[in-house]
Amino acid sequence: MVRFLGYLLFFIAAVHCRHEKYEGHQLYRVAGPAEEFASLEATLDLLSITPAERSTFGKLEVLVRLSPEVKERWLQYFDERNMPYSKIADNLAEILRDEETKIQNAKLAARQNGRSISWDTYYNHDEINNHLDELAAEYPELVTVINAGLTYEGRQIKYVRISTTRFEDPRKPVIIIDAAVHAREWVTPPVALYLINQLVIDVVDNQLTDGIDWIIIPVVNPDGYEYSINVDRLWRKTRSRAHPNAEACPGIDGNRNFDLAWGTNSGAANPCAITYEGPTPFSESEIRVVRDVVLQQLPRAALYISLHSYGNLFLYSWGNNGTLPSNGLNLHLAGVTMATAIDELALDESQRYIVGNAANVLYFTTGTSRDWTRSVGVPLTYTLELPGYTYGFVVPPEYVEQIVTETWAGIAAGARFVLTSS
Ligand SMILES: *[C@@H]1O[C@H](CO)[C@@H](O)[C@H](O)[C@H]1NC(C)=O
Repeated sequence: MVRFLGYLLFFIAAVHCRHEKYEGHQLYRVAGPAEEFASLEATLDLLSITPAERSTFGKLEVLVRLSPEVKERWLQYFDERNMPYSKIADNLAEILRDEETKIQNAKLAARQNGRSISWDTYYNHDEINNHLDELAAEYPELVTVINAGLTYEGRQIKYVRISTTRFEDPRKPVIIIDAAVHAREWVTPPVALYLINQLVIDVVDNQLTDGIDWIIIPVVNPDGYEYSINVDRLWRKTRSRAHPNAEACPGIDGNRNFDLAWGTNSGAANPCAITYEGPTPFSESEIRVVRDVVLQQLPRAALYISLHSYGNLFLYSWGNNGTLPSNGLNLHLAGVTMATAIDELALDESQRYIVGNAANVLYFTTGTSRDWTRSVGVPLTYTLELPGYTYGFVVPPEYVEQIVTETWAGIAAGARFVLTSS
């Protein structure tokens, strides 16, 4: 017993030490011109980016993490440029330890209730994959799990196909959803799993599967996702090491690796930048999975949404130059339809969604899945930045249920939009 307690204490200590590197790191909210943040994106860890006061066009507000070593330098930088800031948290390590305790408790409670997945906590990659396999076994008429490929470190990337017609009816539009391209955005896989739940288990609207085929990829970047669980909560990129300077700076940003305007932004060319685009377009096997799914479903693919966290935004093309695709009006209409459905269910403390061109709402980006999927012919494509409340993507697990429920309402509204316009 004493020995067991010893192990237990060691385990708890080891788990909690993991967040040591963020001891004393503070979170600040900073406002400033969009161009400023576009150029800081590669050097400063921008945990979230949202339009500042909704009336000041061209201004953004970001959440940044400042370590004790660099804090004074950055605050001086902001002062010199008249960029207002305020501190919103004193110690990131403590926030991460709290998050971890809550997740452990919620998982324990769920297990005692005999559920494999619940909507009040987060799950690791194995748990998610097992859940998908169980669903396929239980609902073979509707659900197929595809082993789509391996990650750089050899993990299996799985996705789910949901179809009442075995994907054989060429008249049905296809909706494609992906999640966890960015590792630390933990609230995105639960949203993907909840979509599956509503389409397969707790079915609320048969039309959505009678009329549409679905592809849902709950974890695009399992290596990064596991690394963010086990080593560094704030990890964003993949874990590949096949590019220059990879030993010092492993991984690339999956949402800069697509072949649209790739290589046209010098900030994204630096392997140590958090937004590194990779050595070539589609260099990452994880991103090739998304590419191949989308290409296989052309021309049936009607709606593509990449789930991200956070900011309460539906962003559409072109993010690389700020102009609109030929179907700009429809992109806006479908986006507003989804955003309105979410806003109706949102918490009072949540900001209402903004729908718009990615470059105009935020700033120019290159190599994104939203722009690439639009360029190859998917009509409606979005980056969806989910709500994050106070701490950005460190969404406390007690908010998961709210976010999955309201986002489902939005995506269901998007699906009905597709049905009525096809
Ligand atoms: C903006 O980018 C898109 C996608 O690459 C391209 O089709 C369009 O022609 C560009 N527009 C301008 C004005 O450069």
